[in-house]
Amino acid sequence: MDDQMNPSHNGKGKREVVVVTGASAGVGRAIAREFAAHGACVVLLARSRDGLEGAGQDVERLGGRALPILTDVSDDMQVEAAADRAEREFGPIDIWINNAMVSVLSPALRMTAADYRRVTEVTYLGYVYGTLAALRRMVPRDRGIVVQIGSALAYRAIPLQSAYCGAKHAIQGFTESLRSELIHDNSRVHLSIVQLPAVNTPQFSWIKTRMPNHPQPVPPIFQPEVIARSVYWVAHHPRREFTIGMSAVQAIIGDKFIPGILDHYLAYMGYGAQQTQESVEPNRPNNLYDPLPGDYGARGKFDGRSTDYSVQAWVNRHRGWLALGLTVGALSSLYCAARKSV
Ligand SMILES: NC(=O)c1ccc[n+]([C@@H]2O[C@H](COP(=O)([O-])OP(=O)(O)OC[C@H]3O[C@@H](n4cnc5c(N)ncnc54)[C@H](OP(=O)(O)O)[C@@H]3O)[C@@H](O)[C@H]2O)c1
Repeated sequence: MDDQMNPSHNGKGKREVVVVTGASAGVGRAIAREFAAHGACVVLLARSRDGLEGAGQDVERLGGRALPILTDVSDDMQVEAAADRAEREFGPIDIWINNAMVSVLSPALRMTAADYRRVTEVTYLGYVYGTLAALRRMVPRDRGIVVQIGSALAYRAIPLQSAYCGAKHAIQGFTESLRSELIHDNSRVHLSIVQLPAVNTPQFSWIKTRMPNHPQPVPPIFQPEVIARSVYWVAHHPRREFTIGMSAVQAIIGDKFIPGILDHYLAYMGYGAQQTQESVEPNRPNNLYDPLPGDYGARGKFDGRSTDYSVQAWVNRHRGWLALGLTVGALSSLYCAARKSV
């Protein structure tokens, strides 16, 4: 395939090298597939042997090259070793996508210190270690992009997810600070954050929960492929921040203007909206410390309630062309009106 036509070649006739953390399932798995479909070399980091094997097969089947590496992102040495191995086997990393997460669905007063520590180590520090491993290699070359998979909850926290929301807010602060440093140093390395709406992933079947009913994403729910398409786009059209889904836009804007009203709204709606009607075993197996056996794939159990398209994301990706079209249209109308009046 022509390099010019396929952005997953890095302009030197070489396949693009992309690292995805949390690539064994959910959003990360869909992102890995999207890059594979464009012919990229995809380095897949996660803990589950079964999930990584499935993700590796997906990537090869779709035309990419796969390098699955068992990695726990809460361990900086493992992340660094994975980055080394990625470059040894595939060459310089072009794109690094931080995506791995764990969460605990629980009122804060029933959380333990260990729960907070583990969620923070994976969901926040995992991003810090991944970003630093990428930048140590990209900054000297003055080229590359790190994409942080964020969430509307990085702005507007919700009840029962204090550890996870704290981690998502922390990623935001870390990334903004670091971006200013890169600008200060005149670096051409990019940092982008993609803020997600609710997504149908296995997360809700395996997070640790202390609530009576089965966890669910807060509707409206999107399929992970919707996210993957925009993440691929952002990796090739760097934006400071890119939000997917009107629900995420509303949460972020709402938090700027009516945070107090949202505190009360979420106090009433936030518990029910995060659980189905179906009860859940009190001690169901969870993935907080260790992966669950089996290959869970990209999608969760909410296919029937999930949409596989976001008009907002499409408009967001094409906003430059749309603005140009509107400006040209407005100028032509003005020109025609002026000609008629003379
Ligand atoms: N789903 C949503 O509604 C939603 C909404 C907003 C934002 N997001 C964001 O989207 C991203 C992915 O979420 P998701 O819903 O796809 O989650 P998910 O279905 O639970 O998948 C999480 C991924 O992270 C990996 N992982 C967990 N702990 C790890 C560790 N210690 N080291 C390495 N990998 C680890 C898991 O694989 P292993 O178990 O094999 O390690 C899995 O591949 C997250 O950043 C999340 O904040 C999701």
